[in-house]
Amino acid sequence: MASTFKALEVSEKFSLSIVEKDLADLPEGDLLIKVDFSSLNYKDAMSASGMPGVTRNYPHTPGIDAAGKVAESRVPDFKEGDEVIVTGYDLGMNTSGGFGEYIRVPSNWAVHLPKGLTAKQSMSLGTAGLTAGLSIHALDSFREYTGLKDTKSVVSGATGGVGSISVMLLSKLGSEVTAVTGKNDQSDFLHTIGASNILSREELAKTARKPIGKSLWDVGVDVASGEILSLLLTSLSPGGAVACSGLVGGPSFESSIFPFILRGNALIGIDSVEIPLKDKDHIWEHFAHDWVLEGLDKITKEVSLDNLEVEIKRILSGNQVGRVLVKI
Ligand SMILES: NC(=O)c1ccc[n+]([C@@H]2O[C@H](COP(=O)([O-])OP(=O)(O)OC[C@H]3O[C@@H](n4cnc5c(N)ncnc54)[C@H](OP(=O)(O)O)[C@@H]3O)[C@@H](O)[C@H]2O)c1
Repeated sequence: MASTFKALEVSEKFSLSIVEKDLADLPEGDLLIKVDFSSLNYKDAMSASGMPGVTRNYPHTPGIDAAGKVAESRVPDFKEGDEVIVTGYDLGMNTSGGFGEYIRVPSNWAVHLPKGLTAKQSMSLGTAGLTAGLSIHALDSFREYTGLKDTKSVVSGATGGVGSISVMLLSKLGSEVTAVTGKNDQSDFLHTIGASNILSREELAKTARKPIGKSLWDVGVDVASGEILSLLLTSLSPGGAVACSGLVGGPSFESSIFPFILRGNALIGIDSVEIPLKDKDHIWEHFAHDWVLEGLDKITKEVSLDNLEVEIKRILSGNQVGRVLVKI
């Protein structure tokens, strides 16, 4: 094994370049992993552009997702050559991330790639897919508790990473999905991935009534927060819930108490980063077995490290459609 490797590096002034890094500069950890694929998430773009709250120290290699093979292991649970997935925890935040040929991480950040899922498929899903899966799993648990039969769902940021996988998965599981989007030219894309209805953000504002309106949806997946989340909460069926994971529309939102006390609705927060590894593993197993998403490759654009900068700019401006897979 060579002692250096190629990685994308963000400088102190937030310019991007491909550099040779030394394996010895990677942090301590039980597992050295040769990365085959990573993926682009909104948080990577935040890290790559120095937005607050993600990465403290630069130069830095982002990439909160990685799938690859164990190159060196100090623990019995993993052998050289084992295929693994690492997402979240500190990867790509203040630990050198998946936008490089090697990462070194604690073994309790890694799951074995489940049989039935390839490394490429796992990163086509990536943290966005994991978050969509966790959202839908949480909504299912709440629905079982309230006895609500899920037939109608709503997804915000529907053309984005978490949004598009949520539309695909909800549709696969038999829900009639309404996609809320800011991209009026992406109706074909949204219908192709399984949306039955499409609402622009402006139409949503006319359709959903504050402080409480008609019940339009049983469950919702929200990545926007802000006004969109406020509106989704006004329009749930009794016993319905929204799973929220993002803040692309702003860090705060307003709500009256009515959905919660008149309809027993819930707002369920989703964290894909710091949750126990077994909970991530559970979602990956679903994607390998009963949640296999036909057409995942069609919503995924494959790029190399050299072409990542333009994709980072696109996701930051809210203009990304589907998923960006990074071939390392
Ligand atoms: N909690 C967690 O563990 C977790 C995990 C993953 C992601 N996230 C968060 O979830 C959010 C989405 O992540 P992602 O990777 O899916 O990003 P993404 O691919 O960029 O998707 C976000 C989508 O939201 C919509 N959007 C953009 N700006 C908006 C605005 N101002 N108001 C309303 N909608 C807007 C756009 O879709 P349309 O044009 O179709 O509306 C955009 O494509 C981010 O905030 C991210 O940090 C959280």
